[in-house]
Amino acid sequence: MIIAQISDTHLTLDTPDADQRRRDFALTIADLNALDPRPDVIVHTGDVAHNGRKDEYSEAAAILGKARAPIYLLAGNRDGRANLHAAFAADGYLRSSDFLDYAIDDYPVRLIALDTLGPGNRGDFCAERARRLTDLIEGNTRKPIAVFTHHPPFEVLVGPDRLHFETAEALWRLRGALQQSGRVVGIFSGHVHRAAEGYVGNIPASVVQCIATTLRKGDYPPPMKRRAVYHIHRFDPAWGFSTETRIVAAAALPQPVLEAPVVLARSSRTATGTQQY
Ligand SMILES: [Fe+2]
Repeated sequence: MIIAQISDTHLTLDTPDADQRRRDFALTIADLNALDPRPDVIVHTGDVAHNGRKDEYSEAAAILGKARAPIYLLAGNRDGRANLHAAFAADGYLRSSDFLDYAIDDYPVRLIALDTLGPGNRGDFCAERARRLTDLIEGNTRKPIAVFTHHPPFEVLVGPDRLHFETAEALWRLRGALQQSGRVVGIFSGHVHRAAEGYVGNIPASVVQCIATTLRKGDYPPPMKRRAVYHIHRFDPAWGFSTETRIVAAAALPQPVLEAPVVLARSSRTATGTQQY
């Protein structure tokens, strides 16, 4: 089974880099369509839109509509639950707009997507969501489970922010719920805009870079500045998940001249205090 994970497209319609964000997103879908073998499924781990607006989701839907594999979306802190739910409810997997969590049973690995939205930039995971996660996990006890979250359920030791949840209590509530069954074999997240790896107990966990290259953190050589990055997770019943980092093919489209894109990338190395993702 092959799962493609993309994240943090932060689609906007009216920022100076709006065209670049749209281009990064569209080229990523084109790159996924060109893979051989193609992924069985694509999971977007949140921050689909930058302001959670209806017109941003309309644009996102037009881009996602070109994908040749089924796509499942998570909500990130920049998304709006109600507008995201309204834009993609017809796809059938979003149960309600209260919490955008769900399970997909169509594959050898069960996919569980979580809603970790908090009141602001950081994540939250209340007792109600822990109960819902336990229900999702117990809904099918025959398959291994891959869990997708926007906020990573481990402390990320690179960058100024280690803890991406409102409270340590919320983080540990989520970590506890993930470990209860012993059947979660991989956890895949976004939000941090740079790659990271960690563990939840003995479950391997990872963060994928953001698709929006103007928002990416960390240093990239000049030829990679406008090349989006995503992850391919291949599952083998004996070996578990193996993850490949894919660099999106260079654009055939003309590249816009953006103001100070390098400053955006470098500022993340030296900034202190709370960052916006
Ligand atoms: Fe983000």
